[in-house]
Amino acid sequence: MNQTGLQHPTNQAQMQHPMNWARLQHPTNQVRVQHPASWAQAQHPTIRTWEGDPSGEQRPELEAVSGKAKSEYRNYTQGRLLDRVYSTYALMHTHQTVEFVRRKHAEYGPCRLRKMSVMEALELLDNLVDESDPDVDFPNSYHAYQTAEGIRQAHPDRDWFHLAGLLHDLGKVLALFGEPQWAVVGDTFPVGCKVQPSVVFSDSTFRDNPDTGDPLYSTECGMYQPGCGLENVLMSWGHDEYMYKVMKFNNFSLPKEAFYMIRFHSFYPWHTHGDYMHLCSEEDLRMLPWVKELNKFDLYTKQEALPDVQQLRGYYQSLIDKYCPGQLCW
Ligand SMILES: [Fe+2]
Ligand SMILES: [Fe+2]
Repeated sequence: MNQTGLQHPTNQAQMQHPMNWARLQHPTNQVRVQHPASWAQAQHPTIRTWEGDPSGEQRPELEAVSGKAKSEYRNYTQGRLLDRVYSTYALMHTHQTVEFVRRKHAEYGPCRLRKMSVMEALELLDNLVDESDPDVDFPNSYHAYQTAEGIRQAHPDRDWFHLAGLLHDLGKVLALFGEPQWAVVGDTFPVGCKVQPSVVFSDSTFRDNPDTGDPLYSTECGMYQPGCGLENVLMSWGHDEYMYKVMKFNNFSLPKEAFYMIRFHSFYPWHTHGDYMHLCSEEDLRMLPWVKELNKFDLYTKQEALPDVQQLRGYYQSLIDKYCPGQLCW
């Protein structure tokens, strides 16, 4: 794994400590509080230490594994990475249209781009930093293991869920196949209907999207029927739907919950903010708790202390061999 430029001096010590996963189980602190100490850390991640942050010891709201309060994740109003994040969403919200998404389904649906194993795809993510993510500035392969290990700690008997955590962002290899990041990463939203307020930066980034002037696409239900089910909704194109297609095409032997979680894990306006419920079926509502459960680990295991991938690879290879072995079509 290429770790060039990633090793902050303080992180050497952090990597030796087991993660405090129990903290993930605590109820979220809903109130956003700005602490000078944590603000400084957000600006200068190199000064953050695992045990050396007194604010993490003393304040109960600092509960996620990084020593960062849950309320400090997904901050779209300020932060060191905000300009990069905003630019990615501005492009996404300008260019993701019904026509664009249909074209991408046709292009990637047949999975005829290349053949590679899951592990090879994962290693490709060593080369990808997600430009839509305000909380992460290291390659996505580490995030895959962080998510999977968090799930493994909380759900030791569900090995398929551990694997789902490892796989959930694998569709981001699209960015290494030549797709711009705005067509790969970030939160998703339905195209072909009115944009709901919880979509990130929705008040300023859709002005140049041709679909917003379409009389059908700009209504509440747009081109859909109420209750039609998310499986019948065209989501903005990205790594969720692509990975779902790869899993289907290659007949992954995972439970349907895994397919569903991966397909909709970036649909924050729905699973976190409760928008777009008018499009949902009963099946979507049955699956929602699973999506939320994955999200807990997807989001709150993000931390600068990077996992020891060499040590973990054997376990995850055994899950790959069990559920999605060999060379796959991408
Ligand atoms: Fe993702
Ligand atoms: Fe993720």
